[in-house]
Amino acid sequence: MTDIAELETQTLAAIAAAADEAALEAVRVGALGKKGGISALLSTLGKMSPDERKTEGAKINALKDRAAEAIAARRDVLQAQALEKRLSAETLDVTLPVQETGQELGRIHPISQVMDELTAIFADMGFSVAEGPDIESDDYNFTKLNFPEGHPAREMHDTFFFAPGEGGKRKLLRTHTSPVQVRTMLSKAPPIRVICPGRTYRCDSDQTHTPMFHQVEGLVIDETTHMGHLKWALEEFLKSFFEVTSVKMRFRPSFFPFTEPSAEVDVQCRRQGGDIRFGEGEDWMEILGCGMVHPNVLRNCGLDPDKYQGFAFGVGIDRLAMLKYGMSDLRAFFEADVRWLTHYGFRPLDFPTLAGGLSG
Ligand code: DAH
Repeated sequence: MTDIAELETQTLAAIAAAADEAALEAVRVGALGKKGGISALLSTLGKMSPDERKTEGAKINALKDRAAEAIAARRDVLQAQALEKRLSAETLDVTLPVQETGQELGRIHPISQVMDELTAIFADMGFSVAEGPDIESDDYNFTKLNFPEGHPAREMHDTFFFAPGEGGKRKLLRTHTSPVQVRTMLSKAPPIRVICPGRTYRCDSDQTHTPMFHQVEGLVIDETTHMGHLKWALEEFLKSFFEVTSVKMRFRPSFFPFTEPSAEVDVQCRRQGGDIRFGEGEDWMEILGCGMVHPNVLRNCGLDPDKYQGFAFGVGIDRLAMLKYGMSDLRAFFEADVRWLTHYGFRPLDFPTLAGGLSG
């Protein structure tokens, strides 16, 4: 009798003192397991008289049930405490600012962004992208484009020449993307419809000029393309690029050795303070050069000018970026200042498309 009462007191105290589920399990094994205290008591029943067995058996079984109940109740409490502890340790403040990973912190340079925008716009009109090297021959950069030796137009390009190589010929850093026209006509049969974005170089530096800058060239050659098509293509391009519903353009007669007739295109705009808006206003801004490809250039590139004709245009990409995104100093584009890039750069996954939006 005392045995049973004592065992109950001890067992219940141990259950109450169990600090976690593992400790509680140890108590359970110590009391109800095969070698446990209560199980040991039960095994004494065999040696008792039938009457004794009846009364003692009932008491021991009742103790066993109470112990099992107390263990189950304690387990519920311990499980609830453990859950509570885990929940408070794993709380998340959803109002904290999101920490961006390195990949999300990176920015696309405005020049790359504008090149991607131009590519999206012209790809939609059926143009493909052609590229050429930064180091060019004098022949491709000038002669084949109808700049005769000694022509004053050559001087206007402030060319970076390399030291003369074999045969005394000097290579140069291309001063415009027009040599890619030559390369394209020499390597592909018409119909040709390409844009050629890339780096160009001239010995010049101030707020709006850097020795390295970017241009995109356009070239269309077939048997029927005329200036009306040129005008349409430029208008579509400017509307898409500046994301406006209409643009007014003005074609001013000009001179480029590689086009005849040649024109410079101004776009209607409004200047307000430091801001420029396109698609409205009374001001004009010069934006690109263009024209019909000169018969001499076609001939120099192996095409018969009596059969083939087409247009070309050339635009400064950096200037387009400055006009669209409002930067005033071109030099900052190339200073690799992370603060500038964080401010003016674009998110890498917001790739420009005509369907999804060009500038995000
Ligand atoms: N290559 C010219 C330049 O850099 C720009 C240009 C003007 C390109 C007229 C053209 C064009 O294709 O038709 O000054």
